[in-house]
Amino acid sequence: MKLAIGKETVAAEKRVAASPETVRKLIALGFDVSVERGAGLTAAVTDDMFAQAGAKIADGSDVYKDADVVLRVRHPAAAEIATMKSGALLLAQLAPYQEKDTLKALAAQGVTAFAMEFVPRITRAQTMDVLSSQANLAGYRAVLEAAAAFGRAFPMMMTAAGTVPPAKVFVMGAGVAGLQAIATARRLGATVSATDVRPAAKEQVQSLGASFVMVENEETKAAETSGGYAKEMSDDYKRQQAELIAETIKKQDVVITTALIPGRPAPKLVSEEMVRSMKPGAVIVDLAVEQGGNCALSKAGEIVDVNGVTIVGHLNLPSRIAVDASALYARNLLNFLTPLVDKETKALKLNREDDIVKASMVTDGGQIVHSQLQG
Ligand code: NAI
Repeated sequence: MKLAIGKETVAAEKRVAASPETVRKLIALGFDVSVERGAGLTAAVTDDMFAQAGAKIADGSDVYKDADVVLRVRHPAAAEIATMKSGALLLAQLAPYQEKDTLKALAAQGVTAFAMEFVPRITRAQTMDVLSSQANLAGYRAVLEAAAAFGRAFPMMMTAAGTVPPAKVFVMGAGVAGLQAIATARRLGATVSATDVRPAAKEQVQSLGASFVMVENEETKAAETSGGYAKEMSDDYKRQQAELIAETIKKQDVVITTALIPGRPAPKLVSEEMVRSMKPGAVIVDLAVEQGGNCALSKAGEIVDVNGVTIVGHLNLPSRIAVDASALYARNLLNFLTPLVDKETKALKLNREDDIVKASMVTDGGQIVHSQLQG
């Protein structure tokens, strides 16, 4: 079995889909591993480190051509797909709703591709959950971005020259990224509050030492899907929530927004008026910017200033903490791939009836096969 790890080609992507540790384990599983020259450099892994782990270092045009399995962080470019073998497996975060042409090209090439975002959040798949591993680091990084853009300190400091008050941080959306943002802001000494539409988030927020702010009514009893995700709320709920947020936000120094609804644009929670009500020097970090943003004034990939309020709209926060994000992502892929290998024969054995395989397979046998991507 031949396995290839490519150098990422999506702009500004610094992560890599393997680490020396996972290369060793992939070899133990029975793979011959090739790594594209320079693939790990932006994540602090040199070619020598991959070679010492047992990988062959390959040049770009050759890396995919014999590979039975290809590991990537993001989708490959069209020219790369054209070099892949028919029947090869590809594991990557494929952004399947956005990258339709990539999926068509993968299907046409005969590649069996897995979108790691679609791995179901069942207990058995927890170690393969790239959304969690990356969102966790993104939540941490968002607070550091906010702290760096903020002209004041986070912790309370009592000094001979006077007292510095603690920063007030408000986290909107208390999922994986939001909870890590709360924990990080607390560790930095800020006074933290948070909001969500799922009542289950309350206890989690409070257990991290933050206060919980939410419009709780009949509707929120059903705000969580069986998968644990939020639903789109009614117009009436949105109005009540906006009133509560408007009151809360004007007192905040830092706002971290992380609210997402799967398969839909991010809910707009922070209006222009709310931004204009904030104090000069306040900072908003909009983690939902790739899905349209939670703040009406955030701009994807930009830092904007509105009356002294800084709105940070960095794309791809996990790539800004590429070393750890790569290490965790690489383990997620290893854990996904391990059950696809027959331990006795050391050959690939894909069970297309398996729940995890079925939920994440997007192309197979020359077709786009995922039910949510048809048409
Ligand atoms: P996400 O990234 O889809 O959304 C982030 C947060 O935004 C969620 O907490 C959501 O409730 C909140 N949100 C959505 N609309 C909102 C609105 N209008 N106002 C305020 N907040 C809003 O969520 P994530 O982080 O992927 O987690 C989703 C769920 O999955 C959680 O219940 C989490 O505990 C669960 N989970 C389960 C795992 C497992 O069992 N393996 C692993 C990771 C997460």
